[in-house]
Amino acid sequence: MATTTLITGASSGLGAEMARQLAARGHDLALCARRTDRLSELADEIRSAHPGARVEVRALDVDDHDAVFEVFRAFRADFGSIDRVVVNAGLGKGAPLGTGRFDANRQTAMTNFVSALAQTEAAMEIFRDQGHGHLVMISSMSAMRGMPKTATTYAATKAGVAHLADGLRAELHGTRIRVSVVYPGYIRSEMNESIRKVPFIVSTEKGVAAIVDAVEKEKAHASVPAWPWVPLGFALRHLPLPLARRLMG
Ligand SMILES: NC(=O)c1ccc[n+]([C@@H]2O[C@H](COP(=O)([O-])OP(=O)(O)OC[C@H]3O[C@@H](n4cnc5c(N)ncnc54)[C@H](OP(=O)(O)O)[C@@H]3O)[C@@H](O)[C@H]2O)c1
Repeated sequence: MATTTLITGASSGLGAEMARQLAARGHDLALCARRTDRLSELADEIRSAHPGARVEVRALDVDDHDAVFEVFRAFRADFGSIDRVVVNAGLGKGAPLGTGRFDANRQTAMTNFVSALAQTEAAMEIFRDQGHGHLVMISSMSAMRGMPKTATTYAATKAGVAHLADGLRAELHGTRIRVSVVYPGYIRSEMNESIRKVPFIVSTEKGVAAIVDAVEKEKAHASVPAWPWVPLGFALRHLPLPLARRLMG
């Protein structure tokens, strides 16, 4: 039976590639983002590659929290049920704290944490009503430990969303509502396209294949790709700070 997956931030990068790879596995898709031209192109591409797939698209700015609830409810009405929600929309802006760029850090905190909370609330409203569902939170390896400089706020938001999901998992243990947290390492996307040298970076296709594999297995936690990010994540968490700092760039 087809599973219906709702993906936020599906217009580029990880979200768009997750849509392609999930469609190839036979899933129906509810896709949203602000750039609807990109969403429509993606939907056409997926429908022609997988004629059996059902793909619906809607405009959504996740920072408009009322709209998050409206769009999620509308997708549920379209499909009858939503089996999985991937909270993926995010941005990577940031500046060292106290350097006059509260605007950038606040925007990151808003979109990556408060708007992720809105998406999680909207997803959980549907899952509680249905009695089943799979929440997938896209966190980051940067959630493993407080990060310096431009990454400080970003890393804090990604640790925050991982904690939201972990709290829900503790609450929902033994029910038919599952919760996964994905911690991607560096994967090529619009977020890092202007940075040429990124350590251990993998292509969008390869990185997302690892994400989709973990999601389909409904893993509670997945650092992806597993090599080198499982050992690096462990090192980041447990090394003394002077050593851990060398891994933080
Ligand atoms: N790439 C990596 O190495 C990496 C590593 C760890 C975690 N992540 C996480 O993966 C997720 C996807 O990022 P990406 O790498 O695929 O970057 P990306 O190519 O820049 O994609 C970001 C997506 O988020 C959407 N988005 C941003 N702000 C939004 C808003 N206010 N409302 C609705 N959608 C919004 C964008 O769509 P519109 O602009 O069309 O709205 C776009 O589809 C993010 O949460 C990111 O933090 C990425």
